[in-house]
Amino acid sequence: MKIFRTKNYEYMSLKACNIIMDKLHKLDYPNLGLATGSTPIGLYNCLIQQFNNKKISFKNVTTFNLDEYIGLSVENPNSYNYFMHDKLFNKVDILPENIYLPNGVAENLEKECKEYEQTIKNKGGIDLQILGLGTNGHIAFNEPGTPFHSRTRIVNLAQATIDANARFFKSLDDVPNQAISMGIKTIMESKEIIILASGDSKANAIAKLLDGIVTEDFPASVLHKHKNVTVIADEAALANT
Ligand code: GLP
Repeated sequence: MKIFRTKNYEYMSLKACNIIMDKLHKLDYPNLGLATGSTPIGLYNCLIQQFNNKKISFKNVTTFNLDEYIGLSVENPNSYNYFMHDKLFNKVDILPENIYLPNGVAENLEKECKEYEQTIKNKGGIDLQILGLGTNGHIAFNEPGTPFHSRTRIVNLAQATIDANARFFKSLDDVPNQAISMGIKTIMESKEIIILASGDSKANAIAKLLDGIVTEDFPASVLHKHKNVTVIADEAALANT
């Protein structure tokens, strides 16, 4: 596990942006795994800027998002589908048919999960996966206790996650309590992984991640078992290490 320390959020975003740009230049048809949440917004802004400067194109890029709330349609501003279009996809030249997110309002959610997992495989797997870090150590919506062999499936959100994400919703009651999430095994099959963390709210989680103890009680700790992981964290997130 490589650790890259940055001064602040802006430099964290820039470092991640440079790694993605490099991947886009090196691979003919890159498959990116993308995350939602506040953390990657600076990275997405940087990618949009580089696209506007004609330094990168998303024409040959395929994306797979980590997760989606159950019950929120693509028109719902709180859905991750809406978030990704708003924060990145609508502002670059990615082809709509190359954008994959789980459908949280699919009639058959179990089938949706299986098909999502299969599509990732059929497209050749994920070349570079971006992750954020939950304060409780979750990655995607894989909450503490998730088996490391888990695949894309329906998950119940931990109360800590519902509370943390309530800031995006009108009230706590509006936060869905279930989601479709890529599994830990699915994430671990990515060829390369970057995990981003910024700010003092992530300091305890980053300290726990870097203590090196691998346990299902702290999902992100599984990343120690992967050969190509970079933690990009700012000084505030690394304060307890
Ligand atoms: C959410 C998402 C995760 C994200 C995490 C951290 O619940 N499902 O994919 O990484 O929480 O979010 P933030 O970046 O807003 O701190």
